[in-house]
Amino acid sequence: KKVVLAYSGGLDTSIILKWLQTEYGCEVVTFTADLGQGEELEPAREKAVMLGIKPENIFIEDVREEFVRDFVFPMFRANALYEGLYLLGTSIARPLIAKRLVEIAAQTGADAVAHGATGKGNDQVRFELTAYALDPAIKVIAPWREWDLTSRTKLLEFAEQNQIPIAKNKRGEAPFSVDANLLHTSSEGRVLENPGEEAPDYVYQRTVDPEKAPDAPEFVEITFEKGDAVAINGEAMSPATILTKLNELGGKHGVGRLDLVENRFVGMKSRGIYETPGGTILLEAHRGIEQITLDSGAGHLKDSIMPRYAELIYNGFWYSPEREMLQALIDKSQEHVTGTVRVKLYKGFARTVARWSEHSLYSEKHVTFEEDAGAYDQKDAAGFIRLNALRLKLIATRNARVKG
Ligand code: ARG
Ligand code: SIN
Repeated sequence: KKVVLAYSGGLDTSIILKWLQTEYGCEVVTFTADLGQGEELEPAREKAVMLGIKPENIFIEDVREEFVRDFVFPMFRANALYEGLYLLGTSIARPLIAKRLVEIAAQTGADAVAHGATGKGNDQVRFELTAYALDPAIKVIAPWREWDLTSRTKLLEFAEQNQIPIAKNKRGEAPFSVDANLLHTSSEGRVLENPGEEAPDYVYQRTVDPEKAPDAPEFVEITFEKGDAVAINGEAMSPATILTKLNELGGKHGVGRLDLVENRFVGMKSRGIYETPGGTILLEAHRGIEQITLDSGAGHLKDSIMPRYAELIYNGFWYSPEREMLQALIDKSQEHVTGTVRVKLYKGFARTVARWSEHSLYSEKHVTFEEDAGAYDQKDAAGFIRLNALRLKLIATRNARVKG
């Protein structure tokens, strides 16, 4: 029996690794991905070797470009927000990790994949729906749903018995649970569990407090081609480089902090602190370029399906026919979403202040308050309003009659 484990190199997944070896008697293959979480990956390799993983069974990959190009950017074409606020930073990374787990399983002849998500959350659902969608025969092992290591004390005991090193600061209760990648950092649990209490300052990891952000605003220009960002301040860059750059700018100006109580797919509410500095700028800029390049019919239709699209991603249905159908609609809408947006960053805010495009539908000739040289005949509006008012007048007349 062989299993591919999503391995971060941290204490919890190291315990899972050992537990798979001892309780399941499995040969373990590890997969560690650089999604831009800002952690060295080599220590994960060393730790895997130390825990008895054969070198050919250790997979360490930089997937940052694939993550942004094939997952984050398609999602941003939709301006996706879950429950109006959450930019889906964790949700959109899970399908990529699970896809690689399944691919590595095929490559190494493993029959199962394993992950370190708990039985209470969304992530288990996302990992597993993806795995089954891509390989209907795959087995999934989710140790948190099975083992009897149900307390921090039992976990630490297991680690000690199995010579798994425990960092000094990990002996006590970790203050909260963190998931980070190029798009966001999310913090949940423990000190954050009471939504009636403000999150302590030390929770925030990649944005300055907006109150302590620079007193001078900064401007950034983002160029889009067919809905995807392709350049910053006139300089063409790869997708991951663009997001990295926007994260630096956003972090410095305290952009993209969110304190949210959300509805998990499994039914409970949970409170999270999110930091999405670059993503928040990107969303604002993308809306800015859509303002001048999208037709109203196209724009309103894509806006109306957005909540459904976001919910599919949140619930783990990235690889589903309905997400792909909505994606086709969204991608079609982006054909002319090309141009440049200037965004002003200042003390926690990112605001569009200018936008221009060869593909613009904006017509100053039509909208001007000055003489328009016959572009628009104001008299046309009288009939337009008369016919639109017709049914409203009929309703009002009927209502006056039946009331009287
Ligand atoms: N609630 C977020 C989501 O479901 C984040 C989950 C993972 N975050 C964490 N800190 N463990 O997408
Ligand atoms: C977890 O439960 O493993 C993290 C939180 C979530 O998946 O929603």
